[in-house]
Amino acid sequence: MMDKNTNKMSEFMEKEYAKSLDFWNDWLGQEEENDENLNLDTAWYEIGSKVLAEAAAELATQKQVLDYGCGSGWASVIMVKRGCPHVTAVDVSENGVKAAIQYAETFHVKEQITFLPITTQWLKQQQPDSYDGFFCSNVLDVVPTPVCEAIIKSAANVCKKGAKVIIGLNPYFEQELIEKKGFEEREKNHLFYKDILRIVNHSDEEWTTILGTYFKVVELRHFHWDGEPDTVNRRIFVLEKE
Ligand SMILES: C[S@@+](CC[C@H](N)C(=O)[O-])C[C@H]1O[C@@H](n2cnc3c(N)ncnc32)[C@H](O)[C@@H]1O
Repeated sequence: MMDKNTNKMSEFMEKEYAKSLDFWNDWLGQEEENDENLNLDTAWYEIGSKVLAEAAAELATQKQVLDYGCGSGWASVIMVKRGCPHVTAVDVSENGVKAAIQYAETFHVKEQITFLPITTQWLKQQQPDSYDGFFCSNVLDVVPTPVCEAIIKSAANVCKKGAKVIIGLNPYFEQELIEKKGFEEREKNHLFYKDILRIVNHSDEEWTTILGTYFKVVELRHFHWDGEPDTVNRRIFVLEKE
């Protein structure tokens, strides 16, 4: 659900962002195959990267966590399974929220998660100091820069002092890799693949500055998905609200 947004977004990017939201909504609406051999005791943790799963699990120590742009809801389920008493899982994709509800039902943790389909304006309308944990994986680097900035600013507002924040990000794409992978840069740092905005490309240093404007940067970790070469440097930022 996209509202008439967002500070300083070009008309072009406004249209492209709406298209990308449709893309994610379609993606998340794809039927998952029922896996009868799913091990309900372990499958919630086996997401394809132990480092990323463990980063989500670190927020299980917090009492009220917001999983912002939850997608299929995998992180919310890990947090609850590892002991977090309550997670709020929100996404602008209605299919994402539906998938997240189903995923939480599969692992019997639905009662500890509040699921909300939201608009892009929701976060800035929330009460300050509402959460002591904030999780956001592969959202900030798939949205146009003004949207990203607005999310980070509002995230800082809804986080209590001392809140722990985990941000997951795609790897940085060097120019050579951009060309090799068939991405096209249509606005500065905004990479399109097959006519859809897919990545907003920033280096580790740039993300440190962007996130450091509102949070203390505690740690930057690199990881890759199982099966990816270990030269792939996906990023996890661990932040704290000061
Ligand atoms: C690449 S997916 C990541 C989903 C999930 N966090 C994960 O790690 O698998 C990007 C998600 O961001 C959501 N999204 C895009 N713009 C958003 C916004 N302004 N507020 C909340 N969610 C947004 C999309 O609907 C989509 O579910």
